[in-house]
Amino acid sequence: MPPHMTAIEASPTLLTMTLDGEEVSFTRGETIYEVSRRHAKDVPTLCYDPRLDPFGGCRMCVVEVEGVRNPVASCTTKATPGMVVRTHTDALEGHRKTLLEMVVSENRQVDVDPLRGYASQELTQLVDRYEARTGRFRGKKSGTSKTGDPNPFILRDYEQCISCYRCVRVCAEQEGDYAISVANRGFATQITTEFDGLLKESTCTFCGQCVQTCPTGALADRKSLRAEALPGPITETRTVCTYCGVGCAVDLMTKGEKLVGVRPAMDGPANEGALCIKGQFAYDFVQHPDRLKTPLVRDASGELVPASWDEALDRAAAGFVKANAEHGRHSVYAISSGRAPTEASYTLQKFIRAGFASNHVDNCSRG
Ligand code: SF4
Ligand code: SF4
Ligand code: FES
Repeated sequence: MPPHMTAIEASPTLLTMTLDGEEVSFTRGETIYEVSRRHAKDVPTLCYDPRLDPFGGCRMCVVEVEGVRNPVASCTTKATPGMVVRTHTDALEGHRKTLLEMVVSENRQVDVDPLRGYASQELTQLVDRYEARTGRFRGKKSGTSKTGDPNPFILRDYEQCISCYRCVRVCAEQEGDYAISVANRGFATQITTEFDGLLKESTCTFCGQCVQTCPTGALADRKSLRAEALPGPITETRTVCTYCGVGCAVDLMTKGEKLVGVRPAMDGPANEGALCIKGQFAYDFVQHPDRLKTPLVRDASGELVPASWDEALDRAAAGFVKANAEHGRHSVYAISSGRAPTEASYTLQKFIRAGFASNHVDNCSRG
């Protein structure tokens, strides 16, 4: 074995371990949790987000490893060849239930509106699954809410915080922003900004990723919550964000005919759960009364009046021809919208180049 290699690194490519009595293969570097998930084992988690470095804070994902005295956190423990792992035993389930009861005895509210965020139901679902008692342990409670933080997007309701640090980690690891951090320890633990200030005075970009990863709804989508009282179920519709050419996948949330929020698609190939402030929060234009729903052309007095598409396109074509005839080809200049797909931008530049022999074309996404 080369001196710089560990025993695992030097072991053969096909690695196997025993998972709940069955021999399974794994890839070097995989954690027990990742192997378990691939083999459809329903191991519960709370502080885990597959996009983030494992943290090992909640211990809900504990499993038994033969030869190891205490249960280990499967999300932080690497699988090793020959390992014998059990993911579901009475002792493990009891252990998980007790941990959960400790968490929810501190958490003020278990049932939160799903409009709060993508992962906001994770704690609620675990409490239901384990029939956890919410008042079993009495004592101090951590987290001071900052619900008065004057920003239109994010509710900071830290009384629901369980100190999983997913928000802090997603802000650092995914957004690269480091706008929020953890202050103090134990019951004094608090998610906070630099100098404990307001979010809008921090480096926060309001991307909303902390909201979407929070498993308790402590961080919540303030805009969506405006629709809390609207009747009816929430319907999700998969689509692509209209703002720029990246093509982030989103799920639009509607109640009846009303658009009530946007969620990033965790499986979106271009964004993997990330969005910018526009894609996440700037959706009011969709149902704004000022939104144009038909083409407008100017009448003889210069007023804009509704027109058919044929009328509007004829008018635009006549304008192009007139400008070209009166002022020459350099009077024609086209800017393609950053919200247009590549194919539309290609067609536009072709129209200007081939139609007018001009290279005066641009696109606001070219930077
Ligand atoms: S909204 Fe984005 S930038 Fe702001 S704290 Fe949350 S993750 Fe960080
Ligand atoms: S605010 Fe939410 S995501 Fe952040 S530590 Fe608390 S429970 Fe976890
Ligand atoms: S999910 Fe593994 S320790 Fe929290």
